[in-house]
Amino acid sequence: MHLYLDTAIVDEVREIAAWGVVSGLTTNPSLIAASGRKFEDVIQEMVGIVQGPVSAEVTSLVKDEMIAQGLELRKISDHVVVKLPITPDGLAACKALTGQGIPTNLTLCFSANQAILAARAGATYVSPFLGRVDDISWDGMQLIRDIRLILDTHDLKTNIIAASIRHPVHVLEAAKAGAHIATMPAKVFQMLVKHPLTDAGIEKFMADAKKFK
Ligand code: G3P
Repeated sequence: MHLYLDTAIVDEVREIAAWGVVSGLTTNPSLIAASGRKFEDVIQEMVGIVQGPVSAEVTSLVKDEMIAQGLELRKISDHVVVKLPITPDGLAACKALTGQGIPTNLTLCFSANQAILAARAGATYVSPFLGRVDDISWDGMQLIRDIRLILDTHDLKTNIIAASIRHPVHVLEAAKAGAHIATMPAKVFQMLVKHPLTDAGIEKFMADAKKFK
């Protein structure tokens, strides 16, 4: 399972990408708005740091405008993946962009049937929001399992990005459920690397290293 960082904070991208484990980035309009920065500037800087897919979301809900925005975003970099909501227009825009060889990420996926639609529209990625499914007392991880089973059964090539990840158990379970990618905030990356036994072991090894002759 590849690990993506879900953020619009460029300093976070620099910090976590330096670990060498980040394969790509995702953003959404809420994250960009919270950054207080211009959309294109954030994407431009992000593609310069991580040499992998960077999902940038369109802000129109009208097919032709979505396509036009997607084409504009792709002018920033070939690393840009056009992120589209799963709506009738979003699916149609996905189909059109796919026809032009442009990668897409179909977002706000909350059902396996939506994932089938995304795959049939030719989506490169589909993003089930497992944390938000959990928030309404449904089982977000079962959604990931269902989508993976369906994609494999029908030989559909769309990649699952487990999104709306809130904590390390989501990451572990998404990996076991067959997500191809997990995208998560920087704070979840920080939680993944920490272990009290690692800290205790380092403290002891460092203390003993001072005793070398
Ligand atoms: O990748 C989708 C993610 O940004 C949504 O996360 O925590 O707002 O549900 P959250």
